[in-house]
Amino acid sequence: MSNWLLRNVTILGAAPTDLHLADGVIAEVGRGLATGGAQVFDAAGLVALPGLVDLHTHLREPGREDAETVASGTLAAALGGFTAVHAMANTDPAADTAGVVEQVWRLGRDAGHCDVFPVGAVTVRRRGEQLAELGAMADSAARVRVFSDDGHCVDDAVLMRRALEYVKAFDGVVAQHAQEPRLTHAAQMNEGVVSARLGLTGWPAVAEESVIARDCLLAGHVGSRLHVCHVSTAGSVEILRWAKAKGIRVTAEVTPHHLLLTDDLVTGYDPVYKVNPPLRTAGDVAALRAALADGTIDAVATDHAPHSLEDKETEWGAAAFGMLGLETALGVVAEAMVSTGLLDWAGVADRMAVRPARIGRLDGQGGPLEPGAPANVVLLDPAATVTVDPGSLASRSRNTPYAGMTLPTRVVATFLRGRPTVLDGKPAESGGPGGGR
Ligand code: DOR
Repeated sequence: MSNWLLRNVTILGAAPTDLHLADGVIAEVGRGLATGGAQVFDAAGLVALPGLVDLHTHLREPGREDAETVASGTLAAALGGFTAVHAMANTDPAADTAGVVEQVWRLGRDAGHCDVFPVGAVTVRRRGEQLAELGAMADSAARVRVFSDDGHCVDDAVLMRRALEYVKAFDGVVAQHAQEPRLTHAAQMNEGVVSARLGLTGWPAVAEESVIARDCLLAGHVGSRLHVCHVSTAGSVEILRWAKAKGIRVTAEVTPHHLLLTDDLVTGYDPVYKVNPPLRTAGDVAALRAALADGTIDAVATDHAPHSLEDKETEWGAAAFGMLGLETALGVVAEAMVSTGLLDWAGVADRMAVRPARIGRLDGQGGPLEPGAPANVVLLDPAATVTVDPGSLASRSRNTPYAGMTLPTRVVATFLRGRPTVLDGKPAESGGPGGGR
């Protein structure tokens, strides 16, 4: 069992203290703790947060192991400071049965880089025609609580209603990819001034907002939990604010890229900027940042979407939607939210660990960093910067929009139940099975 004493660390940016991790839990917190038999880690100047929790990760296994595997994606996650990820269901075959979610969960446990919580598909093969075996997935070893057809919208209102009703039995949540399909037929980028100039088919904000409004009303009607994936427009924020004020049980996430990047980047037709939902305007970015700061948007979720070179580095129209996110998420959030004074480190912990763990109904993730809690911890250096080099990422894919960009903060170490998965910014030597719930 590993036994670590983190000396002079600042928990959530507060005054320096020592943090003793032993037998998988936080054993003690306090100044000048005795070393005992622990390995001592000089953490002066470093900030400790609860291990980050991602609600939205595409690990591509089974089916597209050329783009990512559970092992490569979870190593990327650990390097990004995550101790848990939710693995999206749009694999091949889709994660729509107890068998597939258990397979993904086991692969995650065996790799041991972070906990993997599979998301179950809402409908069979994510085709939007018939509910999948939600109860069987919930009862499986993977204990699924989050269900999503992500990549596709559950656009049939009756199916959406049934799914919302069904998941109540086990306190699950339906995570909607809000995209009205007919309004976005053949859409390539945000509908606006830039799409008009480039002559690309637009993806209008109303296609997202109309689905979110409908689903909030449905969730209110049946009294169930709704989660909105990758919110991207100022109008969506207004609807969420209204729904929360009405007491509707809705939560929402925003991606790092929607907090930093805008649709004018598409002008060069570089498909690295092609993503669904699309990059929006500077006004949308400002509204999303404000909503994350005031809690209207609950969480940051990466939507880490690895794609092979053949699928991504082709002409704009044919390229796949999606961008990498796990290894750069904290740096992008630091740039968009911390450097701007919108969030402090406690706020980052809340939006990237505490609330995502709560939404996913995870035990033992998301803190608090107090004695007795599982020792899931990330140490970051707030004074360091990292220049993103696609060639040195752990992901099997290279489709990062941040190549060459210098981002604030560096993940120095990640501990999963007291065992280092990352030390000095590199994968730690000791592998071994993870565990999970
Ligand atoms: O850009 C995206 N890529 N958006 C999605 O909703 C799906 C994802 C993927 O699976 O590549």
